Amino acid sequence: SERTLILVKPDGVRKGVVGEVVARIERKGLKLVALELRTLTTAVAEEHYAEHSARPFFGELVEFITSAPLVALVAEGPHAIKAFRGLAGATNPVEAGPGTIRGDFALEIGENIVHGSDSPESAAREIKIFFPELG
Ligand code: GTP
Ligand code: MG
Repeated sequence: SERTLILVKPDGVRKGVVGEVVARIERKGLKLVALELRTLTTAVAEEHYAEHSARPFFGELVEFITSAPLVALVAEGPHAIKAFRGLAGATNPVEAGPGTIRGDFALEIGENIVHGSDSPESAAREIKIFFPELG
């Protein structure tokens, strides 16, 4: 079994699709381990997205992710990381297939509803940032 860190980003909360995203996670068979609504500080956002710090869109990304509350959650199950990235669809919503979260609810790469860890190393790092108590 595996854990992954999932964010329903501020656009997802604003659009009112938190329940829909959580329903899809649960329907897939993943188990919720932690879930919290919170507004990120700039420091936490920069730590979470550290791998993108040199990208031209980094400032915009941090600005957006700290702009309003998001839902952070940890889901667990066999192949949880890959399973959720499958539910999420391609990073760019116009390339994400219908039936995926981004394919169904988003149009722009900068506002693509969800984040999901992309490897076991990323998941461990990100879970520690958001839910240090999970060890
Ligand atoms: P995450 O699960 O959010 O990490 O998405 P990802 O793994 O599918 O994509 P990646 O880690 O490469 O990029 C992280 C986030 O940066 C994306 O989800 C986008 O929201 C944002 N992003 C990526 N490329 C661009 C871009 O060209 N412009 C803007 N504004 N945002 C971008
Ligand atoms: Mg990523």
